Amino acid sequence: MTSKFDEIEQQVMTEMRRIYSKKVIDNAMNPRNVGHIKNADGCARVTGSCGDTIEISIKVKKGKLSDAKFWTDGCGTSIACGSVATELIKDENITDALRIDSESILNALGGLPESDMHCAVLASDTLRAAIKDYFAGISTKRK
Ligand code: FES
Repeated sequence: MTSKFDEIEQQVMTEMRRIYSKKVIDNAMNPRNVGHIKNADGCARVTGSCGDTIEISIKVKKGKLSDAKFWTDGCGTSIACGSVATELIKDENITDALRIDSESILNALGGLPESDMHCAVLASDTLRAAIKDYFAGISTKRK
């Protein structure tokens, strides 16, 4: 026998599947790389126009991204975007990782509704800011 709660949960999931790809739902409900890296080589926290914030911290070894973690106080889509963004950059050359943009995140997620596209932009802006923070740290050490 199904309870009223089960029925509502079923309706919500049906609606989500109608709007979002399996990849979006999976990454929103089971996000990868959540957290903060202690002693990160680069870190950035960016707040988007919607008021939500994403933070990404990275670890770099021998020019490659060895680890990346994210945190957000935002919507389910921002969780999915942060999750995929940190997956996309792992093991990438640090310079190549700068090429990962909102389009890369959208492609990896199988697309997003128009109204949620800014969540992918926020994730890619945060990613780039974390990489720039890494390069700024290097140049500071060189001085
Ligand atoms: Fe703000 Fe998604 S609504 S990041």
